[in-house]
Amino acid sequence: MNEDDADRIDRNRRHFLTVATAVTGVVGAGFVAYPFLASLQPSARAQALGAPVEVAIGSLEPGELIRVLWRGRLVFILRRTEAMLGRLSDNLENLRDPDSEVVDQQPQYAANDTRSVKPEFLVVEGSCTHLGCAPIEDFDLRPSENWSGGFNCPCHGSKFDLAGRVFKGVPAPTNLRVPPYRFVRDDLILIGQDTGAA
Ligand code: FES
Repeated sequence: MNEDDADRIDRNRRHFLTVATAVTGVVGAGFVAYPFLASLQPSARAQALGAPVEVAIGSLEPGELIRVLWRGRLVFILRRTEAMLGRLSDNLENLRDPDSEVVDQQPQYAANDTRSVKPEFLVVEGSCTHLGCAPIEDFDLRPSENWSGGFNCPCHGSKFDLAGRVFKGVPAPTNLRVPPYRFVRDDLILIGQDTGAA
């Protein structure tokens, strides 16, 4: 193993531990919150558990990824560059569901070439569709490996492209799920609520 490989694996491990710690923290918070939630009326309880989440994206730089929580689930928001968008057609023949035909994995308005409302912004759940690990971003270009950037799952090696589309020959059966969302403004996304149309 050369130094670059060792460094990349080390970074991936550190990143995975950070995500695992964050998710553990969320689970812990859920237990703490339970007595409070149980005391609420049913409608207020439902809102507290499933309320939409507003995310300000105005300061997101091209190529930058942020992670937010919605209903205790990790959601990735990636501001894709023009170059990233151009790479979405690089590996179509190697993808299991390039045209988003598995209808449960995205709202109808995201069943398009970029799996998004606005091509620049990818919004996907950060939960591998194999056993639910958090995939890790890997945006480097490696043409010799047919890799144009995307997400790698550290648990059993599933791979997803820059639209969250799963590659063939990996354990994950489907693309990363796109949650319901809409743009409140150009710089503000609401996750968990949409109008049913892009
Ligand atoms: S949980 Fe992602 S590959 Fe198994």
